[in-house]
Amino acid sequence: MKAHVGGLTAIGSGRVLVVDDHPQARESMAEVLRQAGHCVDCCSSAAEALQVVRRETFDCIVTDLKMPGMSGIEFIVQLEQRRYGAQVVMVTAHASVSTAVEAMRHGAFDYLEKPFDVDRLEQLVAHAIRHGRLVHVQDTPDAATASCEQPEMVGSSPLMQTLRAKILQIAPTPETVLIAGESGTGKELVAKAIHAASGRRGKPMVSLNCPVLSAQLMESELFGHERGAFTGADTARTGRFELADGGSILLDEVTEIELVLQAKLLRVLQERSFERVGSSQTIAVDVRVLATTNRDLAAEVSAGRFRQDLYYRLAVVPLHVPPLRQRKEDIPELMTLFLRRSAVRLGREPVELDRSTIDLLMHYDWPGNVRELENVITRLSVLGADGSVGADELRRWLLLGPEDEGVDATADFAVGLSLEAMERKLIEATLDHFDGHREKTAKALGIGVRTLSGKLRQYGYAPREKSLARAGR
Ligand SMILES: Nc1ncnc2c1ncn2[C@@H]1O[C@H](COP(=O)(O)OP(=O)(O)OP(=O)(O)O)[C@@H](O)[C@H]1O
Ligand SMILES: [Mg+2]
Repeated sequence: MKAHVGGLTAIGSGRVLVVDDHPQARESMAEVLRQAGHCVDCCSSAAEALQVVRRETFDCIVTDLKMPGMSGIEFIVQLEQRRYGAQVVMVTAHASVSTAVEAMRHGAFDYLEKPFDVDRLEQLVAHAIRHGRLVHVQDTPDAATASCEQPEMVGSSPLMQTLRAKILQIAPTPETVLIAGESGTGKELVAKAIHAASGRRGKPMVSLNCPVLSAQLMESELFGHERGAFTGADTARTGRFELADGGSILLDEVTEIELVLQAKLLRVLQERSFERVGSSQTIAVDVRVLATTNRDLAAEVSAGRFRQDLYYRLAVVPLHVPPLRQRKEDIPELMTLFLRRSAVRLGREPVELDRSTIDLLMHYDWPGNVRELENVITRLSVLGADGSVGADELRRWLLLGPEDEGVDATADFAVGLSLEAMERKLIEATLDHFDGHREKTAKALGIGVRTLSGKLRQYGYAPREKSLARAGR
C-alpha cells in the first residue's frame, strides 16, 4: 500500500485552467487533462479567466494565443503584472511561434504548437506543475492575491446570517482570527471575506497551505531566507510575512505546523518581527494573521500536538463555520450559484435539476460539506446536461463518491473499530483503489486534497513536496 503512495508522490497533478474561445478545443483539452487526474476549469476568454483567477488558485493555465478580445499574450502580461503564481502553457498555431517565444519572455513556462498530440499536452502540463511546485517562484506565493473584492458567499440560513454578522464585526479590527470548521465548509472563503471587509483590503492577502510543507521549507516560506542559508538556497528569498506586509496572511490548516516551527510563529504573533533564515537582522511587519483548522484545536493542545500559548494567541477571536447538514436551507442557493458558475465555465445554459434530484440533494448529509456539493453540481453540469443522470446514478455518486465504479463497497470494517481507525482504513482503501492518486481519492472521500495530505502525513506517509524534492532536486 505504501508503495503506491510512494509512486504517486511524483505525479504532477493539480488544478488547471484551460482558456480557449473554441468550445471543442477547450473541452477536448480539458477532458484529456481530467483523464490525467487534474482538476480542470475552463474559460472561453482571457477576460473571463482574469476574473476567475482573482478568486481561484491554479497550478497551471493552458491558454490559446489567438482569441477575440484579449489575446493570449496580453493575458500573460496581465498575469505577470499581478504576479500570479501559476505556470502558463501557451497553445499556438505554427505561424505564431515567434509570439509564443515572446510569451515565454513574459514568464510562460512553455508553448505547444498546434496540432499536438494529447500525450504531449499531458506531459507538458505535468512538467509545468512539478516545476511550479519545486521552483516556488520568488515573490509569487501561490494564493497571494491583492484582493479587494468580497468573495461570493451565499446562504441565508440563520447560522450563515450570524456568521456574516460576526465577519463584519471582526473584519475592521487588527485581531488574529482562528476559523474552525469541518473540511469543505468554507473556511478559506471566510478568511477572504474578512480580509476583503477589512481596512487592509487594498493590500495583499497571502496564503500558506501548512500541510503540504516540511518544517524547513515552511520556515523559509514564512520568514524567507538569505542566500546560502542552507543547501540549495542559491538566491535570497522573501518570506510570506514580508510579502503580506500591510495586508493579511492566511495560515491554512495551522494545526499541521510542526512543533519546532510553532515556537517561531508564536514569536511573530507576539512581537510582529522575525529574522530570515540565515540572517540576524530583525524585520518588523504589520500583518494581520488569519488561520484555519478542521480539527479541534483545544483537543490538539491537550494531546500535546499544539502549543497552548500559540493556541491562545491564534484563537483571540474564534469563528466556527457550521457544517452544511446544520444549514440545509442554504443548499438551494448554493446549488443555484454552482449551476450558474458551471454553465459559465462550460459555455452553456445552466442544467435544470428535476424534483427527485433536488430532493436527493436536500436530504443528503454532505459529509464533505459545500465542497462536496460544488463537486456534485459540477459533475451534474458536465454529465447530466442531456438528462442522462438519473436518481440512481446520483445516489451512487453521493454514497460512494465521484469515481465510484468498482469501488470496493465490501471492504471489511469490523464492528467496534474506533472511528479514527475506521477513517484511516477507509482513506487507505480508497487511496489504494485509485492507485495512490491523491486528487481522485480526496474527491471520492469528499474532502480537500490538503486535508487528505495532512491525514496521510499523520499516518506517516511521505509528504508530496518532500518526495518531489528528493526526486527532482
Ligand atoms: N457560503 C458559500 N457560498 C459560496 N461558495 C462557498 C460557500 N462556502 C464554501 N463555498 C465554496 O466551497 C468550496 C470550499 O470552500 P473552502 O475552500 O473555503 O472550504 P474549507 O473549509 O477551507 O475546505 P478545506 O477544509 O477542504 O480546506 C470553495 O470552492 C468555496 O468557494
Ligand atoms: Mg481550506
